[in-house]
Parts: sequence; C-alpha cells; structure tokens
Amino acid sequence: MARTADYKLGEYVFPRGWFMIAEASEVTDKPKAVRYFGQDFALYRGKSGRVVLLDAYCPHMGTHIARNDSSYVVHDGQVEGDSIRCPYHAWRFGPDGKCNEIPYNNGPIPKAASLKSWTVVERIGAIFVWFDPEGLEPEWEAPSLPEWDDPQWIRWKFDHLGSLVCHPQEVIDNIADYSHLAPVHGSTVQYFRNEFKGHLAVQYQGGGHRTLVGENGVSPILTTDTTYHGPGFLLSKMFGMGESIIFIGHTSIEEGVIQVWHALLVKAPQTPPTEKDIASARAYQEADRIAFAQDFDVWGNKRPAINILQVPCDGPFHKARIWYKQFYNPRARRDEFLKQVDAPEYTIPGLPSRLPGT
Ligand code: FES
Ligand SMILES: [Fe+2]
Repeated sequence: MARTADYKLGEYVFPRGWFMIAEASEVTDKPKAVRYFGQDFALYRGKSGRVVLLDAYCPHMGTHIARNDSSYVVHDGQVEGDSIRCPYHAWRFGPDGKCNEIPYNNGPIPKAASLKSWTVVERIGAIFVWFDPEGLEPEWEAPSLPEWDDPQWIRWKFDHLGSLVCHPQEVIDNIADYSHLAPVHGSTVQYFRNEFKGHLAVQYQGGGHRTLVGENGVSPILTTDTTYHGPGFLLSKMFGMGESIIFIGHTSIEEGVIQVWHALLVKAPQTPPTEKDIASARAYQEADRIAFAQDFDVWGNKRPAINILQVPCDGPFHKARIWYKQFYNPRARRDEFLKQVDAPEYTIPGLPSRLPGT
C-alpha cells in the first residue's frame, strides 16, 4: 500500500480540505461511528437538526461514544438537545465538545472533560468536514451548488462505492489524464486543457463517448468542465445529453485507503420534473456510475504510480501533482506550489484546447 511519503507530497499524511464523510440522510440522532484520516469519530444529528462530529473517545475512560448497543444510555436515547451522552458513565457533551453534565457528580466539571468538535456543514445532500493538519479555519468556502436549490434540477442520491485501497494521488491524477479517455471510456476527445487556480484544478474536454450513449445507442458530443474543489471532491458540469453535474468524492480512511461516492444532478426538461424525468435521471446516473466504474476497475488493481513514465501527450500529470502538494504542506508554503502551475492553461501537443469557435 502506497504512503503519502512515497509520493513525496509533503509533511502531512492527509491533506487539508473539505471532505465528504456521509450522505446527509444517514445522519440521525442515533450516533454513527465513522473513521477517516486514521481517526475515529462520532457523527450525529442534534434535535435542532444540527450535525455534529466529535472525536470518538470519551476523555473520562476512553469509551467510544458511538459504538454501543446495550447501555441504558443508548436505549433511552443518547442525544439530548444537541448534546450526546457517553454510554459508560453518562457524561454529556455539547456540540462544542465540552462536557456539560456529569450526572452523579456534585463537584465542578474538569476543564479537560472535552472532545474535539470538528467543523462540519450539510450541503448538496452530504456532510462535509473541514480537515486541516494545522488546525486552522477553512481556507475556502464550504461546498455549494446553486443548481441543488433549483427546482428544475433533480437531486441526486449518492452511489456509495465503498472503500478502495488506492492512495488518493492516483485518483487526483485523473484530472490531467487525457490519454486514458479513449482506451478506458471510448471517448473520441476533440479538445482538452487543464488550468490550476488556487485550490481549484480544472479540466475541460469534449468528444463522443462509448459508455454514455443516448437511447439510440449513439453518443452526442459530450463536453465536461470538471473542477476539483481542493483535494476531496470534484464537480463536473456535463453538456450534450441535456445538462448534468457529476459529483465524485474521495476521503481517506487510512493512509492509502479511500472511501468513494458518486452522484449525478440532472436538469429536467421542465419544472417541476415528472416521474418519467426522475426515472431517466436515475438511469443516467447509473450509466455515469458505470463509466466511473471503468476508472475504479483500474485503480483497484494497479500498483502505485510513484513515478509516472510520462510521454508528452499524456496530459500534465506532474503539474497536477504539484498543485496537489499545496494541501500536504503548511498553508504558508502554498504559493511555492502555485507558482509552478500558473500558466494560463496546459494543453496536449497536436490537440485543440477548445472546440472550434469557443
Ligand atoms: S468513559 Fe465516558 S463517561 Fe465514563
Ligand atoms: Fe476516467
């Protein structure tokens, strides 16, 4: 299993950024044990609807607060207001992580009786955490998508693709990977380019596609404008068979092991969408999932590409890797990396960078 140090990415094992940790509908007042970034957490929804992510292990005697099925604390409901009780001795912790009640004790609550509370948001049908090895405030805004709130767009339900033993570097490589599009997806790419701007890495491409075809079995020209918003997820605006937006998120569970989700937001031909529109949006998401599974099939079975034996027409892999390094190093060093990827665009020799006339 490849480690972050093998790729010489920087001083942190896990990068800073916004990362998906659950589908919003999975989070209820029954706490959920989750594990990411090599750490255990308790994730729950308070009675106000607020989503809370706390470190899992109680400061009293180390109990995992979200892994118990038999304590009467759990039986009677662990979540009170937006607070949660530990199953062992019923200490109660607020959404800020601070202990706010020790039911059997008449002295003061010790200052150290506290769990780390993480910055989480509920957006686009998912829960995202801001993860930051330096422990700083978010460097950029939380994920959002205006189409999510537009009634003409059919909201996605996530495909939970499970865990994959693959360092996230190998997934990020995809943003620059022009040369896999024809062999893996059957694309006939007519133009391709990349841009790197701050925390965004963008790929523009378009052409026919063998996996994503219309009802007549023929693919129109499909164009995608795909943006990694930091290291954790991409949104890809797809045009050609109507309008849609792909989501792909990957979050490290352990070093070299990621959890992966996929989804597709589809613009209906009318507002409000009909049952038939919803059914065809679901079918389109499934076709897109199958296209993504073609990448998965490779990632799940390859050895790590610590060094890429790059040829000129591969796409700017090494630039994308430099862009990715900014998240594995202190924020103060960010511009060192960005300066190395600041050309207006990166193109493929001999291939147009845009469709003629655009
Ligand atoms: S271990 Fe949590 S209250 Fe005692
Ligand atoms: Fe791909």
